[in-house]
Amino acid sequence: MKKLVVGNWKMHGSRASNGELLQGLIDANLAQSAPNADVAVCVPFVYLADVASKLSGQSIAFGSQDVSAHKQGAYTGEVAGSMIREFGAKFAIVGHSERRSYHGESSQLVADKAKAALAEGLTPIVCVGETLAQREANQTEAVVAEQLQAVIAALGAQLADIVVAYEPVWAIGTGKTASPEQAQAVHAFLRAQLVGALPAAARVPLLYGGSVKPDNAAELFAQADIDGGLIGGASLKAADFVAIARAAA
Ligand code: 13P
Repeated sequence: MKKLVVGNWKMHGSRASNGELLQGLIDANLAQSAPNADVAVCVPFVYLADVASKLSGQSIAFGSQDVSAHKQGAYTGEVAGSMIREFGAKFAIVGHSERRSYHGESSQLVADKAKAALAEGLTPIVCVGETLAQREANQTEAVVAEQLQAVIAALGAQLADIVVAYEPVWAIGTGKTASPEQAQAVHAFLRAQLVGALPAAARVPLLYGGSVKPDNAAELFAQADIDGGLIGGASLKAADFVAIARAAA
């Protein structure tokens, strides 16, 4: 199966720098030079139109970093899945740890957002992951199981149509990557939870995120249950992001 390599730009960029970054990805001719990776970038809402136009006719998909749980209505500041989809986006990240911690998003809200995304034809990339304190207290499996369980309960048969990203909070932006063995162990656990809930969910891609760089990507992607990566900092440099996509063997 092809790996899925997704950049999460977070709150970085400008119209000018985004254009340069995307041009770098286009020039790398990823369809030929990284044939074993499907590649996407998840961008701030306000740049969806620019990104859609720049990536028109290219093999690089794109998405948002969040989506409202609501279809439409009086929800000031929120962005509906239908609006994101209207630009041709394929993905919507939901439940990133930065939203869970800085915006108080509960597992139930994240599950509602995943459902709202699917209802509009977007593929939700559902993020789960434990903090360092939780890992040290041996709560990793309990934490990610609780986060995933809400999604399992909300989605039913649509569980097979999502992407899951395991992002240990202690590895995000810290330069501290989970070892391939640590990541694989959690991925195997997540896979078992998904399959236990719905056999067809065996096909759900499981991405690893947290300080993925060109020099550690190949080793992570070589693990049996790591189907790709969700890349933060290294997705902001075309050369690094391209190297990570090419690490998918
Ligand atoms: P970094 O790759 O910068 O650690 O960020 C990971 C992440 O949060 C992607 O969503």
